[in-house]
Amino acid sequence: MITRLRKEQIKQLAKLHKNELSGFLPELGEKFLEMFYRTSLDLPEMFTFIEEEKGKVRGFVSNITNSKGLNKKIFIKRPLRFLLIFLKYFISHPGQLRKFFTILTYPGFKEGGAELLSIAVGRNYRLKGRGRRLFEKSREEFSLRGIKTFKISVYERLPANGFYKKIGCRLVDSFDFMGEKMNYYEYKIKN
Ligand SMILES: CC(C)(COP(=O)(O)OP(=O)(O)OC[C@H]1O[C@@H](n2cnc3c(N)ncnc32)[C@H](O)[C@@H]1OP(=O)(O)O)[C@@H](O)C(=O)NCCC(=O)NCCS
Repeated sequence: MITRLRKEQIKQLAKLHKNELSGFLPELGEKFLEMFYRTSLDLPEMFTFIEEEKGKVRGFVSNITNSKGLNKKIFIKRPLRFLLIFLKYFISHPGQLRKFFTILTYPGFKEGGAELLSIAVGRNYRLKGRGRRLFEKSREEFSLRGIKTFKISVYERLPANGFYKKIGCRLVDSFDFMGEKMNYYEYKIKN
């Protein structure tokens, strides 16, 4: 069953995000991800759907209607709590500070526009249509919000490129991000 993200699902969602997605955000840890998704509930432009089965979170997709300045929008909602999480992390991982500043240069934060930010299904539950259902639900919601096109970025090395192609996304650009090739896909909503 697909539901909109509720507060009580956040712990499981953060765990799933940390376990199934690569990149810098999961490295910041589950506490950071919990705070990120809790804050996302206060941003009207963000929406997250959960695939839940018998009270267990099996998959999720998070989206935004305009990603411009997302990092700042999230941070200023709970500055002290985020600062504390960052301080704790960077004291134990000082070498990661450069990565943190690089992530702020993510093109999506500058250019803006509608974006599917993350999608993941638990590894034991894949290839059974859950990813497609989550994607469809996002497409429906974007459409209800008057969005005609949204983008998705994904590291070139990830098998998920195959999923996006299968689902009807078009590769429109590639760029270097944190020393890795990243692909930009676009999905056009047909009425
Ligand atoms: C990408 C992901 C969400 C897909 O979820 P899923 O539940 O396995 O996807 P579905 O079963 O709904 O698959 C939908 C279609 O895509 C295809 N597909 C799924 N994963 C694929 C892959 N890695 N390569 C090629 N095709 C793939 C399926 O075969 C299916 O095709 P069909 O409808 O013709 O049978 C899942 O693999 C995942 O969580 N990956 C790890 C996290 C990740 O990398 N996310 C993307 C970065 S944001």
